[in-house]
Amino acid sequence: MQEQNVKICKGPGCKAWSSDRIARELLEIREALDLSEVRVCRVPCMKVCGGGASVRVNGERKIVKLKEADEVLGALGINAAFTQVV
Ligand code: FES
Repeated sequence: MQEQNVKICKGPGCKAWSSDRIARELLEIREALDLSEVRVCRVPCMKVCGGGASVRVNGERKIVKLKEADEVLGALGINAAFTQVV
């Protein structure tokens, strides 16, 4: 699989939408499923606070609002059903 890049906001607005938990769970899933091609990094406020944790996938211009780690996997095209083993 091609390298994929996930940027998860660590600003206060997104922390209120559990961005810390989403990032932690995504890293756990990454380890459990050996998805070394998925890079996860935390970034400062993206200035689109509210409605979920702000996530940018693969440098796309669009920022998506997510509430669960499964949704990040979906944005990456990874079948969330794999995460049931975690
Ligand atoms: S705190 Fe995340 S976009 Fe502002």
